[in-house]
Amino acid sequence: MTTTVRPDAGRNASPYLYGEEAAEVARVLEAGQYGHTDVTEEFERRIASFLGVSDAVAVMSGTAALHTALLAAEVGPGHEVVVPSMTFCATVQAILAVGATPVFVDVDPATLCVTDPLIMDAVTDHTRAVMPVLFGGRAIDFSRIRRELAARDIAIVEDAAHAFGSPNGTRRVGATGDLTCFSFGPIKNLTCGQGGILIPRTRAEADTIRRIRLLGVVQSQAQRAQTTSYQVEGFGLRYQMSGINAAIGLAQLDHFEKAETTRRILWRVYRRALAGLDGVTLVDVDPDRSVPHLCQVLIPHRDEVHAQMKARGIGVGVHYPPNHLQPAFAQWRRDLPATEQVGREVLTLPFHQHLTENDIDQVVTALGQALKTVGAASCARS
Ligand SMILES: Cc1ncc(COP(=O)(O)O)c(C=O)c1O
Repeated sequence: MTTTVRPDAGRNASPYLYGEEAAEVARVLEAGQYGHTDVTEEFERRIASFLGVSDAVAVMSGTAALHTALLAAEVGPGHEVVVPSMTFCATVQAILAVGATPVFVDVDPATLCVTDPLIMDAVTDHTRAVMPVLFGGRAIDFSRIRRELAARDIAIVEDAAHAFGSPNGTRRVGATGDLTCFSFGPIKNLTCGQGGILIPRTRAEADTIRRIRLLGVVQSQAQRAQTTSYQVEGFGLRYQMSGINAAIGLAQLDHFEKAETTRRILWRVYRRALAGLDGVTLVDVDPDRSVPHLCQVLIPHRDEVHAQMKARGIGVGVHYPPNHLQPAFAQWRRDLPATEQVGREVLTLPFHQHLTENDIDQVVTALGQALKTVGAASCARS
């Protein structure tokens, strides 16, 4: 089948540059600030100020942020971590990296997010952390369970990889008191190329995180330049963010308002266009609670529709195959009926800032045609 769609509709996701990133990177390269330098620290201050928090600690990826967060929350062997199976495998790998046990839970199929009862039903005396995922960018309000979890010494570690900038009530995600982890990977709402950031809960936790992300060494570059040695004060990894990545993030942050506006407009355009299609359920990120990161639908015969859309040149994808069904995580498998159904039905439509309203019309028209073709073939079979 020949394709007439614009190349942008053929991409499921795509980084969006505002024009100053390359010059900012060149400036850092010319200054020789490749490693963790003042540029990284400026990025941390600017992100903290943007989110309205007192501190933020930058690391090399969202996965590194999740791993460091669990280490800082003293999660380790013998502990359970409650996590939705419906997430990117990075969330689960971070739990395994600290030697803890993932306890997979279901999600609400309307939002692909966990709910208070789903979390609390999975909590046991061994639980040390819960790791909700702010799916598609949607903020979750934990105010009803935060106190009970704290009383049981259970940390809420928010996987907010999708949710940079999302509002949560009158504040932004990251500013509501939980240990929050963002990703600045290539296709996120804000990109550093690769990168992540943690929002610590206390000053002491920030110090621990800074120590862990720099191989356990606590001296600053300036202090180290003055002495003949350095001190390793605990466990650590080389997880710091380079000045090169921070420079990209700083240039992006200057334009974040455009990302917020465009992403909300595009998601609402999809919502309007999809309302006319029978048999399609839009996963609700609620643009009043998010800077939308994904646009997803639940549909019957997903695999066939996916193939039809690909044949029409449309960049569809699947986020995510459920983790509890992955071979590497089989020993923690349990019955999660909603996640299994979503895993069979979810289709991610192209969603990025290069899209036009016309692209979205083409995607939705193609989806309507694909559903018709697949529906007719399935009727003929039965
Ligand atoms: C839900 C979720 N968690 C964690 C990550 C890991 O972030 P990174 O790719 O920056 O390591 C991602 C990345 O896509 C993600 O989507």
